[in-house]
Amino acid sequence: MEFSEVVRRRRMVRNYDPDRPVPAEVVDRLLGYAVHAPSTGFSQGWGFLVLTEAADRDLFWQVTTPDGLDDSPWSAGMRNAPVIIVPHSNRDAYLDRYAEPDKGWTDRDPERWPVPYWHIDAGFASMLMLLGVVDEGLGACFFGVPPDLTAGYRAAFEVPDEFTPIGAITIGYGVKDRRSPSLARGRREVPVVTHRGRWGG
Ligand SMILES: Cc1cc2nc3c(=O)[nH]c(=O)nc-3n(C[C@H](O)[C@H](O)[C@H](O)COP(=O)(O)O)c2cc1C
Repeated sequence: MEFSEVVRRRRMVRNYDPDRPVPAEVVDRLLGYAVHAPSTGFSQGWGFLVLTEAADRDLFWQVTTPDGLDDSPWSAGMRNAPVIIVPHSNRDAYLDRYAEPDKGWTDRDPERWPVPYWHIDAGFASMLMLLGVVDEGLGACFFGVPPDLTAGYRAAFEVPDEFTPIGAITIGYGVKDRRSPSLARGRREVPVVTHRGRWGG
């Protein structure tokens, strides 16, 4: 598929064919795209939890779904996804990398960082998977894990403390879904968000 078409067709898909598994080699290809993402200092401080077994996915939904939302249409569609990939960032990996001699930030002070690049890099990796999904004829949705449920998620899946789930991605063959009401906001087009030469121009 042409890159421009991949970008144009990408959208968050929130319902999947539960009877159509995603081949293991496709999941592997998506993860292969993820590790080609850029990362500051080539830190690559990301980690991906891949859930393809029904029992593991059930556990994921059990520990990450807020009370009272089990029966929502959103949950029903998302739970049909045969694959969940949880991308994590690791701040320590970045502080360690930048304490190395070629970078020299031996104080490991997070204040040195213009923005938390550990989250950004995990986001870049996620984006490559989202684009790869389109190229594979699949659908995906990136969504947030509620902060108050993160500890329970970590415990359930034995995720070390230094890893933070930046969200989660459901993946599968898309079927009819309810599009996000947020889309009614309309896309902010290039001239609205672009400032050429000076911001105020
Ligand atoms: C960081 C991030 C968090 C998101 N969290 C959620 C979420 O928790 N639930 C959800 O249904 N969609 C979530 N979305 C999807 C957005 O709602 C969606 O990208 C946006 O409405 C634009 O729609 P599109 O991606 O289909 O073009 C998230 C997207 C991003 C980038």
